Amino acid sequence: MPIIRKLVPEDFNHLLTIEGESFSQGYSKYFLKMIPILFANSSYIAIRGQCPQGYVATAFRQGSCQAWILSLAVRPKYRQMGIGVGLMTAGLGDLIAEGVREVLLSVSPDNQGAIALYEKLGFTVDQWVEDYFGPGETRLLMKKSLGKI
Ligand SMILES: CC(C)(COP(=O)(O)OP(=O)(O)OC[C@H]1O[C@@H](n2cnc3c(N)ncnc32)[C@H](O)[C@@H]1OP(=O)(O)O)[C@@H](O)C(=O)NCCC(=O)NCCS
Repeated sequence: MPIIRKLVPEDFNHLLTIEGESFSQGYSKYFLKMIPILFANSSYIAIRGQCPQGYVATAFRQGSCQAWILSLAVRPKYRQMGIGVGLMTAGLGDLIAEGVREVLLSVSPDNQGAIALYEKLGFTVDQWVEDYFGPGETRLLMKKSLGKI
């Protein structure tokens, strides 16, 4: 199994690899560069040696007790081995320690694997939003109250 540790700026190329294999339209290089800088205290990478396997990015909403899951991705060949849950558990642990009361995320309603993972961790569907990112781009907004994972 990989280790799960906090992201550092030197992980940029690892993030490019994970993102490229996980999403057809992923985050820009610019944003991936910023993740370990802006969100380092609650974002993690799963890595074995120099082989990155997955990452999670979470962010605090300024002036609130809320946080968002910005991204969760595991490279295809490492899926369904518990890495996604391991990454989420690490990130959620930090959010709890920081006093976050509610965690939100958006996910495509077609993404049954991710939805099942989030439900397993106690997230529930809060809203179904048509045209969230533009015409036809529906998203489910899911949320979880913190206190225990
Ligand atoms: C979603 C994703 C992160 C899951 O990562 P993973 O490491 O495979 O997840 P885990 O092995 O920790 O799975 C945990 C649970 O999630 C659910 N799950 C994960 N993948 C699933 C799938 N393809 N189908 C159904 N359930 C799935 C299961 O309940 C699973 O528990 P189980 O193994 O006891 O049945 C991974 O599939 C991925 O990177 N997908 C592409 C990127 C993406 O869609 N990210 C989410 C964007 S919102």
